[in-house]
Amino acid sequence: MPEQPIEKVTVPSITARKKTGPKIVCLTAYDYPTAKILDETGVDLILVGDSLGMVVLGYENTVPVTMDEMIHHTRAVSRAVKRALVVGDMPYFAFHLSPDETIRNASRFLKEAGASAVKIEGASKKRLKIVEALVEAEIPVMGHVGLTPQSICRLGQFKVRGTASDEARKIIDGAKDLERAGAFSVVLESIPREIAAILTEEVGIPTIGIGAGPACDGQVLVFHDMIGHSTGYLPKFVRKYADLYGTISRAVGEYAADVRAGRFPDDSTSYHLKPGFAAGLARKPAQKAPKPGDGPRSRKGRAA
Ligand code: KIV
Repeated sequence: MPEQPIEKVTVPSITARKKTGPKIVCLTAYDYPTAKILDETGVDLILVGDSLGMVVLGYENTVPVTMDEMIHHTRAVSRAVKRALVVGDMPYFAFHLSPDETIRNASRFLKEAGASAVKIEGASKKRLKIVEALVEAEIPVMGHVGLTPQSICRLGQFKVRGTASDEARKIIDGAKDLERAGAFSVVLESIPREIAAILTEEVGIPTIGIGAGPACDGQVLVFHDMIGHSTGYLPKFVRKYADLYGTISRAVGEYAADVRAGRFPDDSTSYHLKPGFAAGLARKPAQKAPKPGDGPRSRKGRAA
């Protein structure tokens, strides 16, 4: 049977989901094997978030993440993806200096890293001009309002936004402004579900919630949080679907115990000479015995 062609998720098909549904399923990924699983499982949108900095690179917050780091990880993700829309997150200060500099940085995600769109945090007047410039340069933009983690130095802490009415209004208006500026969708992070519901009703582009309740047009979570591979604090909005941290810890502990006790490797995980070959070798001490890695090699370069 010939393989069915894969119907790629595109920027217009994401925008259309606002009207047609179903809800947009989005997760973060930062590497090839994870992106492959997400894509094969039918995740619609893979965000290479700058949460990379905290989740994978061990930074205290997302501020130190560089364009080069984002490009490196987005390339790995894109190599694995056949169907999902890949969106690259513009790191802190990659879009603050000038529209030219921003277009140069954003275009790297499309040209060098195989992404189809970029995400930008915030909806200030200056930010909206940047979004307009990117859209004019045919770089699709996903907005991000509510809690914007890159503003940590100004905000002082990560906490729910929009609990006071003036801030809530600002968030709703910010999302509308982003729509007017040409954004194709908008992330709503850590806002009361009631505000997200009003906002989702009032904007014509899909809203993708993270800690924004069930009314959004789609949902996103940080992959490592939802599979239980993170250490430390988890926000209230995370649902843990697995305990990878525990599974990996147990596996590594068993491996260490087996190595120390001489149970690994055993006969089944060792290479063998053909019968009689070893005896022949023993009679000719001048000849060098082949090393274990010298056997036939698989296509991937690992001994079969
Ligand atoms: O960087 C990230 O992972 C994000 C999501 C949490 C939306 O911006």
